[in-house]
Amino acid sequence: MENRIEQIEAEALALLSDASDVEQIKSLSVKYLGRKGLVTLFLRNISELPVDERPEAGKQANITKKRLESAFEEAAKRMEADFSDDSDAIDVSLPGRPSPQGSLHPITTITRHICSIFARMGFDIAEGPEVENDYYNFEALNIPKNHPARDMQDTFYVSENIVLRTHTSPIQVHVMEQNAPPIRIVAPGKVYRCDSDLTHTPMFHQVEGLLVDEEVSFGDLKGILESLVHQIFDENIRLRFRPSFFPFTEPSAEVDILCVMCRGKGCKVCSQTGWLEVMGCGMVHPAVFENVGYDTSIFSGFAFGMGVERLAMLKYGINDLRMFFESDLRFLRQF
Ligand code: FA5
Ligand code: MG
Repeated sequence: MENRIEQIEAEALALLSDASDVEQIKSLSVKYLGRKGLVTLFLRNISELPVDERPEAGKQANITKKRLESAFEEAAKRMEADFSDDSDAIDVSLPGRPSPQGSLHPITTITRHICSIFARMGFDIAEGPEVENDYYNFEALNIPKNHPARDMQDTFYVSENIVLRTHTSPIQVHVMEQNAPPIRIVAPGKVYRCDSDLTHTPMFHQVEGLLVDEEVSFGDLKGILESLVHQIFDENIRLRFRPSFFPFTEPSAEVDILCVMCRGKGCKVCSQTGWLEVMGCGMVHPAVFENVGYDTSIFSGFAFGMGVERLAMLKYGINDLRMFFESDLRFLRQF
């Protein structure tokens, strides 16, 4: 009879070692230790054994019972711990974890807004390389080597003739080389300069614009830009065209918007001027048309290049442009 109880115990432990979940352990526990379990029945039937065998069999069966109880309990505990530790284990009854949802960067949002306003006015979207030949970034735009205008766009050279573009204007040249007039494009993209302060970052975004056709006037340029600014901000926003110089436009102007921080009183954001420069523009210089083989006796055009961060700064009331690129979620989540 001692053999019989040993057999029961060995069989129970073997089955336990195969158990793969808590449910299986529970049913083994019922099978061996439950009210009609094998160990329970064995104990209950001890009275049927010969008198001299009873004490030893009872003792043995009680030991088995204790051992199985603790073996089942430990196995169940271990399995529960494993389950909660194990990242592979899937509890299909748990509600799903929502994946964190990002949102568009404010610069992306405003770039898209600008492009969609131009698209409605009939402009196509163009793109160009961020790493440019000196020819496209400077020479084709009438900025020869050693011209002082290069100083204002002090930049990152990859090698003597290859630069990270300093403005989106080289895209004008690519587009005109590949297409005959009429042209009506806007071209968004990243540009690079050795700059860093409240209103300048070393990498920033511009949207270039180019329109070439017969009889294009400065009045057309003004009308389009005013319409754009009114659509980005509102009808009451004040802007001004200030005479300026670019080698690739003539006449040239810079467009300023009344500083939203101080409403024109003068503050550190607008360097006490009351105005913030948002873009350069002008009528395309004949030298640029000649470089791409356009007939200057037939065609004229205008071009502009706007600073996207500057527009975003004014639109959202941000007083330090560098915040756009610090990846601080407390800042970015506000948009
Ligand atoms: C240009 O880059 C000319 N290519 C614009 C142009 C295009 C003129 C076509 C005529 C015809 P400018 O260097 O001024 O011009 O830069 C244009 C705008 O970019 C500025 O008005 C300003 O809004 C923005 N900007 C310039 N430097 C920075 C900078 N470091 N960080 C952020 N924005 C800048
Ligand atoms: Mg400028």
